[in-house]
Amino acid sequence: MGAKIAVYPGSFDPIHNGHLDIIQRCVPLFDEVVVAVLRNDEKRPLFPEAERVEMIESVLAGFPSCRVETFSGLLVDFTRRIGARVVVRGLRAVSDFENEFQMALMNRRLDSRVETLFMMPREDYSYLSSRLLKEVAALGGELTGLAPDLVLERLGARLAAARS
Ligand code: PNS
Repeated sequence: MGAKIAVYPGSFDPIHNGHLDIIQRCVPLFDEVVVAVLRNDEKRPLFPEAERVEMIESVLAGFPSCRVETFSGLLVDFTRRIGARVVVRGLRAVSDFENEFQMALMNRRLDSRVETLFMMPREDYSYLSSRLLKEVAALGGELTGLAPDLVLERLGARLAAARS
């Protein structure tokens, strides 16, 4: 039997502790965890793709079974290409469910071999999103403990650059 590979896809603009919590929960369950960063320029991310990847690689340096890749096009195509059959998505609250349910069923329709596995992050992070992180950072709010220090530093620097 081949290695059990999990694909954990997202925009990761930027990665935060809720994402990291899910990745850490995947590590003991899979031989490899591939964090798949969507190349979504049309979503106008705050961080360019290369920086999003670099930040994730830095914070996952202590996890040898994790690697970071970028993808565009269909998630199921990427998943098949790397020999994986499991897509992991975090479910924070009921409000996430509808969209995630639609994506999971569409992905199943596109490739019935791909299973979506939903995992709940630690309750402390159940309200956390990259969008809120950026909003609070832009308004000068305190974010310690919600994302790795490196990410919070980069967030501050990028927002300062955007203001000047
Ligand atoms: O972090 P996000 O923005 O919630 O992640 C969304 C993501 C990347 C999982 C989703 O947009 C995606 O899978 N995009 C790839 C395009 C695709 O496969 N679309 C059809 C499946 S619904």
